Amino acid sequence: MSKLLGKQMKFTISQHLFRILAVLLLSTASFFSQAQDTPKNENIPAFEKLNNGLAKTPPMGWSSWNQFGVEINEKLIIETIDAMVQNGMRDAGYVYVNLDDGWQADKGERQNKPLDYDREKFPKGIKYLADYAHKNGMKLGIYSGPGETTCAGYAGSQGYEKQDADMFASWNIDHLKYDACCSHEKASKVEVQEVFYKMSKPLIENPKDIVLHACHCGWTDIWEWAGDLGANHWRIGQDISDDFDYPKNREGYYFDVLDMLDRGDGLEAYNKPGQWNDFDMLIVGLNGQSKELVGAGASNIEYRTHFSLWAILSTPLLTGTDVRSLDGFTLDTLTNTEIIALNQDSLGIQAKTVKRGGNIHILAKPMSDGSWVVAMLNRGSETELISVRWLNDLGLDWNKASVRDLWKHKDMGIYEEQYQVEVISHQAVVLRLYPTK
Ligand code: GLA
Repeated sequence: MSKLLGKQMKFTISQHLFRILAVLLLSTASFFSQAQDTPKNENIPAFEKLNNGLAKTPPMGWSSWNQFGVEINEKLIIETIDAMVQNGMRDAGYVYVNLDDGWQADKGERQNKPLDYDREKFPKGIKYLADYAHKNGMKLGIYSGPGETTCAGYAGSQGYEKQDADMFASWNIDHLKYDACCSHEKASKVEVQEVFYKMSKPLIENPKDIVLHACHCGWTDIWEWAGDLGANHWRIGQDISDDFDYPKNREGYYFDVLDMLDRGDGLEAYNKPGQWNDFDMLIVGLNGQSKELVGAGASNIEYRTHFSLWAILSTPLLTGTDVRSLDGFTLDTLTNTEIIALNQDSLGIQAKTVKRGGNIHILAKPMSDGSWVVAMLNRGSETELISVRWLNDLGLDWNKASVRDLWKHKDMGIYEEQYQVEVISHQAVVLRLYPTK
């Protein structure tokens, strides 16, 4: 169903122009003002401001969609929780286990009935899973949408928002992905705002803390207003495919890793504690085996680069792969605590492009302890020698910096003015820089 929807999606020329203009405007602002203040715009939500005070760092966890699609059940969720406890993912910060579409009992329109779970897939019910997650130091997420049906055709929450919010709370749910399925492409801002306001309001009124993901494809520039309506993260584009760099968009809809990176370039100002640009769930380790996503899979290095980028972009880290059977390389990628720390930094800054030319792309951001993070990405197919200069590229008035390579887990030494390194095709070398005398 989501694939069918995807084929209908087309960017209009005016949207392209608007985006280009927005990027140009934003790129003139200074890094720090970008990082700290959302720019003033005339798109103040037509509704009262809401804020649930949650997700001060980007949510981390697992979501069922990228690997399993709607083929989910109680056994899978219990085994996933157990696996994440045992393999160290929970302790590395991945605490959300999110049921995506396919947990519901009924297909088609709501027919005036309470939303119900599929009793064959989930014989003990959803609350049982939430309690199981909580007992294991984790949290449970659920999925619904503002249509009469969800993207995969199950009964949606339209017209029943309060009833559903209260039911999710009574199940002890911690996270809701509320998915408008890339609909509303032509809708006005106010119409789309109303859709999310109607769910955000009863969620906030309920005493149970529930993180809200306003899932959408970026139509009406959702990043400009969703945070003010109580959303904690919002998708910036269509679905990711299991590709690092597929020529053009698959089916005119799917974004590969580099497409998504470029889509979010210029949106740094909207990222802040509690309010995150969402670059979509991780494809790390899918290896072309997803039951739902299109894509041929990527190499270990490409998946590692994807993970590094999502980390420094301070976007939610929701892994989509089957965590019950991770190979060593994939587990090492997902649990690199030095990389995760960049994502979970209290400043919540989305790294921005500081240098780009040919296949060389450097992104950077400051950290709360005064250090800086730099990702040196090679987008091309040949090895590149990449250098980053403290002053010219980062604007840092540092003479010397101590350089740590976060994938080698090694201090590389003290460097004057710049650091230079060979970066193989589709690799990102990630450095943490500390000012040094
Ligand atoms: C849309 C979303 C996906 C997933 C599916 C479920 O396509 O973008 O992430 O939630 O719906 O049907």
